[in-house]
Amino acid sequence: MSIPILSIRGVTKRFTLAQGLFRSPATLNAVNGIDLDIAEGEIVGIVGESGCGKSTLGRIVTGLMRLSEGAVRFRGQDITAIERRELARLVQPIFQDPYSSLNPRRSIAATVAEPLEIHGIGDRSERMDKAVAMLDRVGLPSRFASNVPSQLSGGQRQRVAIARALILNPQLIVCDEPTSALDVSVQSQILNLLMELRRDFRLTYLFISHNLAVVEHIADRVGVMYLGRMVEVAPSANLFAKPQHPYTRALLHSVLSPEPGAGVPDIGLKGGFPDPTNPPSGCVFHPRCPIAVHECAKRDPALMPANGGVAACHLIDPDFLEAPARVA
Ligand SMILES: Nc1ncnc2c1ncn2[C@@H]1O[C@H](COP(=O)(O)OP(=O)(O)O)[C@@H](O)[C@H]1O
Ligand code: SF4
Ligand SMILES: [Mg+2]
Repeated sequence: MSIPILSIRGVTKRFTLAQGLFRSPATLNAVNGIDLDIAEGEIVGIVGESGCGKSTLGRIVTGLMRLSEGAVRFRGQDITAIERRELARLVQPIFQDPYSSLNPRRSIAATVAEPLEIHGIGDRSERMDKAVAMLDRVGLPSRFASNVPSQLSGGQRQRVAIARALILNPQLIVCDEPTSALDVSVQSQILNLLMELRRDFRLTYLFISHNLAVVEHIADRVGVMYLGRMVEVAPSANLFAKPQHPYTRALLHSVLSPEPGAGVPDIGLKGGFPDPTNPPSGCVFHPRCPIAVHECAKRDPALMPANGGVAACHLIDPDFLEAPARVA
């Protein structure tokens, strides 16, 4: 790969949680040692149960949250060295709930034009012209321009958020559950729009979703997170056809029994999601893993090449399997 547009290296985000007067604070590694490169034009999906660290990773990449360890580079440059406004021009987020990020009293054209104003681009009428053209491009013709958000449907509001994210001509878009609040029929319209926009504006997406069907539809490559770690990354077709990590297999199985609106449904694993302030020893997945062996509680598996990507499980490591005493 030439220089990736985004390079995430050893990224860790620690939160310190107060536990009341008489207990010392707990540490939570919301994101734990993530490595990921994204090539220009790629759509990389990030999946995993609620609480596994997807949004935290997304916030770090957009510069909305500082990391505790590691580095994120945009075209080779550390994002902490990129001036805040410049980073906002290059990398834009799109969130699940556009309503909370739209000013209820502003017309949608003014909302879309606002980033141009903040960046001192054009005069007022030029900015409004650009905003109206961008709204048109995302499927909201000029008759909508003076509407306020409450006059729009959820899907239309997400189109406004997309227009606003694109108005500065960014290169990387971090989508965090962009269709999760929408009806299924509207979801596919928004996904198709995002794919068209990628092509037309030569965008790259980091696409976070708990919905595997959505990710399978849109992503070129998929990363699976568990308890702040990346446990598998592979080209989308490979991952869905032949998942390597037992957690990925459990997640894919969960698609067969979706519970509408309940995030990732019961994925048929023993035990619930572990306490992130007190993660299991060894492979953090071992208490829930249906194929765990003795050694899994002792040693943390590293990511290794698998299925055109990487996965972190002792049982795909030939060296581990050649030592049968460990599996006893
Ligand atoms: N600001 C915060 N302070 C403390 N803990 C947080 C904060 N943000 C997220 N967390 C915790 O970090 C973990 C990962 O959260 P998040 O990134 O939102 O996961 P996801 O998007 O996959 O649901 C969770 O355990 C969550 O409770
Ligand atoms: S290392 Fe062990 S516990 Fe972890 S996923 Fe592989 S088999 Fe399961
Ligand atoms: Mg989230």
